[in-house]
Amino acid sequence: MEQTVENLLINYKTLEKFKFFKEYGNQELSMLEDLENKMVENYNDSPFYGIYIGDNLVARMSLYKVQKKYDAYFEPKQDYLTLWKLEVLPDYQGKGYGRALVEFAKSYNLPIKTNPRINSHTFWEKMGFQKAHYDMERDLGENPLIWMPEGVKEKETT
Ligand code: COA
Repeated sequence: MEQTVENLLINYKTLEKFKFFKEYGNQELSMLEDLENKMVENYNDSPFYGIYIGDNLVARMSLYKVQKKYDAYFEPKQDYLTLWKLEVLPDYQGKGYGRALVEFAKSYNLPIKTNPRINSHTFWEKMGFQKAHYDMERDLGENPLIWMPEGVKEKETT
């Protein structure tokens, strides 16, 4: 099956498609506000990536590169990706779209951090993610999962 992952241009059309996803929230509303205020014509560097089947956006995620100076997870300290809002629409789950998005993120060959929803742990385990050792000051209410390419280790926490 064809699974092309594309960077999603943020415009009214894309924001309408986003309304089908459960995790529609402040991030999308602020983008809408920016468009309405004409502060931006289009987001050129949108953090959203997705998969279209025909005219339907069936899966999406946000992916953002965190700079090395803010890295508190990996050894050696380096740029890493943070992944959030991974979601596949109900009718399209279990067909490999979630995996395709995660593999797209891995293809940058940078470590990845995500904060999974309850219930999705089996999926993340299958994708090769592991629990980061919990560090209260760093993680607070999060339960981060991490994935590391060859040669990268988890930073030791005290
Ligand atoms: N529980 C257990 N395993 C799961 C799973 C789940 N909820 N979702 C996917 N998997 C497994 C698949 O069986 C598959 O395994 P395989 O390679 O051994 O066949 C692998 O993970 C990849 O599955 P894929 O088809 O790419 O998953 P997906 O496209 O459905 O994406 C989610 C996974 C979790 C991102 C997607 O289902 C989603 O957005 N769900 C929303 C709600 C949610 O989090 N549900 C969790 C269960 S209630």
